[in-house]
Amino acid sequence: MAEARTKPAPKGLEGVVATTTAISLVQDNRLIYRGYAIDDLVAKAEYEEVAYLLLNGDLPDRDQLRDFKQELVKHRALSPFLRDLLAEMSENATAMDVLRTVVSASAAEDPAEGDNSQAAEYRKSIRLTAKLPTMLATYMRRRRGEQPVPPEPSLGHAANFAHMTWGEKAHPRAAEIMNAAFILQAEHGLNASTFAARITAGTDADMHAAVTAAFGALKGPKHGGATDTTMRMIEEIGSPDHAETFVDKGIERKYIFSGFGHRVYLTEDPRAKHLRRFASELAKGGPEQAKQFEIQERLVRAIAERRPKMSPGAAAKVNVVNVDFYAATAYTFLGIPADLGTSIFSLGRIAGWCAHVMEQHGDNRLIRPESEYTGPVGRTWVPIAER
Ligand SMILES: CC(C)(COP(=O)(O)OP(=O)(O)OC[C@H]1O[C@@H](n2cnc3c(N)ncnc32)[C@H](O)[C@@H]1OP(=O)(O)O)[C@@H](O)C(=O)NCCC(=O)NCCS
Repeated sequence: MAEARTKPAPKGLEGVVATTTAISLVQDNRLIYRGYAIDDLVAKAEYEEVAYLLLNGDLPDRDQLRDFKQELVKHRALSPFLRDLLAEMSENATAMDVLRTVVSASAAEDPAEGDNSQAAEYRKSIRLTAKLPTMLATYMRRRRGEQPVPPEPSLGHAANFAHMTWGEKAHPRAAEIMNAAFILQAEHGLNASTFAARITAGTDADMHAAVTAAFGALKGPKHGGATDTTMRMIEEIGSPDHAETFVDKGIERKYIFSGFGHRVYLTEDPRAKHLRRFASELAKGGPEQAKQFEIQERLVRAIAERRPKMSPGAAAKVNVVNVDFYAATAYTFLGIPADLGTSIFSLGRIAGWCAHVMEQHGDNRLIRPESEYTGPVGRTWVPIAER
């Protein structure tokens, strides 16, 4: 085996500090955006204020917020090029594939493509944040065979998304809960998709390339994809009475329970309690919702009781109910199809991704770690006729 030049990092880079950031702090079961606890932000802020905070470093004053909102409103509409692409793709592709591809294609109409200056990237961040809800609402309507509803300038970011998606049929709490969910999912340190964005930005590639990479990483079920797999798991369990058996069988086959476990949080994900409250309130809306929420509660209890039967590693991981677990039901109860939770996540996270790309470009150095080679060495070439 070749001699390693450096000691290899732990598997999955666990515990490795790979960069510095002034955007958010994840520590001791707390999540803090630019110095503000998310518990405060989720209770008091509009998503636009939080996006401004992440991108600029400080909360906006009244004039700054008005101007920021006006810029977002100005850029909500999609060009005919993006609308056509979205329509072409929507027949067969998943929402995450559509969003990733349309975001990537939007680079083609970026007037400052390749300009990585902070001013240009700020404008790109606003355009991407503004357009993503329009992309997803258009996709959702198309799946239902409905024409797109144009953005409504008088409405805020979350309320406009609800309006474009459901019009007058929107759940009465859709705007409020989407606003809170976008805030809770806006930023989270060096999570996998943000790291992917920073690695891409580190090559001096542009904002659109970095956000496209982030979309790719978010899709996986170990990351944002867990919102969708949580919903599938709840549907598979089917009835609250099946929860305990599901867990018993799951432990036997080392099943990974979606919505449980976290790399950084060891005892509590501070976002989960907010989404649990929303899910629990919305569960009162009908028998199907009540049943699905009851499945969740029985699952949490059954897993907690059976932790001693699990391997020490698994027992430690399932101790945490993560953000995706209750996001899945909160979104479903608002009328969002079960396979679209991950794409909703991206609507919040876009501000965090963009802030990280700007931070990376603001003081850039190529991110290029090394690997420890574990393959064979010194082999002798054998001609094809002799193999
Ligand atoms: C979040 C997650 C990817 C963290 O992974 P990680 O820190 O790399 O932890 P590992 O995958 O190394 O898991 C360590 C052990 O816990 C087990 N484990 C981890 N998450 C588990 C889960 N949700 N259910 C059951 N067992 C789990 C692993 O099988 C492994 O067991 P072992 O020691 O017997 O081999 C992982 O917990 C997971 O896949 N959770 C479900 C998906 C999810 O909800 N993702 C969203 C995160 S916000």
